[in-house]
Order: sequence, then structure tokens, then C-alpha cells
Amino acid sequence: MRNAGLVLGIACAAVAVLIASGCGSGGSGGFVASGSQGAGKELFLARCASCHALADAGSTSTIGPNLDDAFAQSRADGMTTSTFTQVVAGQIRFPITSTSTGAPGMPGIDSTLPSCEDVADGEFCVEDQDQAVADIATYVGAVAGTGVTAEKPTDGKSIFVANCGSCHTLADAGTSGKVGPNLDDAKPSQERVQSIVTNGRGAMPAFSGSLDAQQIQAVAEYVSSSAGK
Ligand code: HEC
Ligand code: HEC
Repeated sequence: MRNAGLVLGIACAAVAVLIASGCGSGGSGGFVASGSQGAGKELFLARCASCHALADAGSTSTIGPNLDDAFAQSRADGMTTSTFTQVVAGQIRFPITSTSTGAPGMPGIDSTLPSCEDVADGEFCVEDQDQAVADIATYVGAVAGTGVTAEKPTDGKSIFVANCGSCHTLADAGTSGKVGPNLDDAKPSQERVQSIVTNGRGAMPAFSGSLDAQQIQAVAEYVSSSAGK
């Protein structure tokens, strides 16, 4: 069973690159158990949105490929949702962690979805990796490349959850990212947030190319007024 999943996962990951079709069609093989789109969206926002743009999630990062662009053509060519789901699951399980260009690849599953058996208390973790993969794959498979362009979020909290929460903890937004400073502790001013989001800083990417001026102002107002509350 595990081996069958492994082979399918690799074959499917290759399909994502080659944009062939027919991989995992029918969704059989038991590789992806049935997942929940709602739970998948929450996990996507927490663990994937910091690197991937996806219109339905309102995320805009350019660190990894834009997932709408990655799947739009194959969806137009008739690839089914169940096939996408297999491809996404394969990518989460067997990412190309180091790319041929030397650019950073995608982190492995024990980094994106660490199991609660393996992490210290208080760190992000999932009780059941298989279920978490199924949930995210079901969600991304259902929405990526559908041409559904979600309204660009304009309220600061939604912008924060989609673009910042996977790296930053902010209690009001319900996020627990640990890549960047805890914003409840930092309590930055609006001007500080606005400048750092626009220009980036250290390991934090600049958002001037992915959020417009109004969105940056909205997220800066939101963070400065809710941090530490
Ligand atoms: C630290 C950044 C990072 C995170 C977090 C991340 N990815 Fe990726 N992802 C990448 C990069 C870089 C690539 C391109 C290299 C590769 O193919 O592995 C990629 C590739 C992909 C692809 C293949 C896209 C294509 O063009 O075929 C999918 C699907 C994907 N990621 C889904 C996810 C999902 C779902 C999550 C959350 C569980 C996630 N990623 C988390 C950086 C990330
Ligand atoms: C890929 C991870 C990542 C993402 C996404 C990210 N940040 Fe950051 N952020 C960081 C890191 C790392 C730092 C520390 C940078 C440094 O000082 O070297 C930081 C610093 C900051 C600071 C300064 C905190 C202080 O000490 O005063 C603020 C404010 C901030 N980020 C807000 C945001 C907002 C708002 C967003 C979304 C628009 C965001 N960040 C998205 C990683 C991230």
C-alpha cells in the first residue's frame, strides 16, 4: 500500500511538471482518502500560502509557483479534479526539495505538516498527516486554476491571514507562524508595518509587487491596531 502510493506520488509529481494527463484518473488506489475542503483551506492558509499564490485563498506570494497558473492549462485540457488532487498530494509528500537551478525548492512534509508525535508542545503540528494531506489536496484540487478569481481582499485581517499568518503569530488573527517575530510581542506601529511590508526586510519578502497600496495600508492598520490585544 505504501509502495503503491509512493509510485503514484512520483508519477503524479512528474505529471505536474510535464502537464500530461491520465495520472491517477478515477482517483482510485486509496492514495488520497477523502478530504475536507474547509479544513484543507485552513491548512493551506497556515502552511502553504506564504509561498504560493492561489486566488481562492487570497494569497499572493511568489516564492513558489502560482498554483492557479500551474493548473489552469491542464484543467483546460480536461484533467479531472480527482487527478489534481493526486498531483497535489504527491507534491506535498515528495516535493523537489532542491531544484536543478539551485533555487530553494519546497520543504518536505515533516516541515510543512509535522506530525504531533515529532514536535515540541506549542509548535504547529497535525494529528494525522495522511488526513492533512488529503484535506489540502482536496481543497487545492477543487479550486486551483478554475478561473475563479476571488475578490481581492480589502480588509486587513483577511489580507493578514492569507499573506502573513504562516510566518507570524498574531492572536487576533488566530495565526501561529514562527518564521518571523511574534507580532503580539513586537507591537509595531502602522508606519513600521507599512514600510516593512512594502520593502521587505531580511528573510521577509517585499509585498509591493503582490499587494496594492490600499491593501498594504489596510494590513498595516490592522496589525498595528490588533497586535498585543
Ligand atoms: C517555503 C516555501 C514553500 C512552502 C511552505 C510550500 N511550497 Fe509548494 N512549492 C515551493 C517551491 C519553491 C516549488 C517549486 C519547486 C518544486 O517543484 O518543488 C513548489 C511546488 C509546488 C507544487 C507544484 C507546482 C507546479 O508547478 O507543478 C505544488 C502543487 C505545491 N508546491 C503545493 C504546495 C502545498 C499544498 C503546500 C502546503 C502544504 C506547499 N506547496 C508549501 C515552495 C513552497
Ligand atoms: C516568509 C515569511 C514571512 C512572511 C510571509 C511575512 N513575514 Fe514579516 N517578517 C518575517 C521575518 C523573518 C521578519 C524579521 C526580519 C528581520 O528583521 O530580519 C519579519 C518582520 C516583520 C515585522 C517587523 C517586526 C518587528 O520586529 O517590529 C513586521 C511588522 C512584519 N514582519 C509584518 C508582516 C506582515 C504584515 C506580513 C504580510 C503582509 C508579513 N510580515 C509577511 C517573515 C515573514
